[in-house]
Amino acid sequence: MPSFHFTYDSFPDATSIDPVLQQLMATAAEAARNLSYAPYSKFQVGAAVLLENDAVVQGSNQENASFPAGICAERVALNSAAVLYPGIKVLTIAIAYTKAHIDAEMADEVLSPCGICRQVISEVYQRQNSPIRLLMSSANGKIIMINDAQNLLPFSFGSHML
Ligand code: THU
Repeated sequence: MPSFHFTYDSFPDATSIDPVLQQLMATAAEAARNLSYAPYSKFQVGAAVLLENDAVVQGSNQENASFPAGICAERVALNSAAVLYPGIKVLTIAIAYTKAHIDAEMADEVLSPCGICRQVISEVYQRQNSPIRLLMSSANGKIIMINDAQNLLPFSFGSHML
């Protein structure tokens, strides 16, 4: 039977990962703390994108009183990177979150990109024709790393269909 299978890495804390990626995750966490506009959900998300030219671009969720008009941190970061550094490949995207009350069960849970963000990451992947590494983090500092974020969107819709 056909199947999808992928592997990922799990680290108990950021000190176990490459220092460049550790810094990237710290930059995502800083965006969650200081750049998020989330007055409605109070769920603050930050993203940091590392580009092939070593530039780092931050993003944060930007909510709206008209709820569907809000946008996730990942898309803000990726779209900003596309404008600030056109044509430069995205190597890695790190995401982090914070919120007022995080109970013990929640603390270990990594934030994983929503379906729309997966679709946008997939478009960037197709556009640049090279994989994007994804780093996801939990409130207690655990990190999950997927070397090709495309694995999170099997059977994806893309330009090949149009
Ligand atoms: N959000 C993100 O920014 N990224 C994610 O990966 C999941 C959800 C935002 C959207 C909304 O502002 C808030 O988190 C609650 O859903």
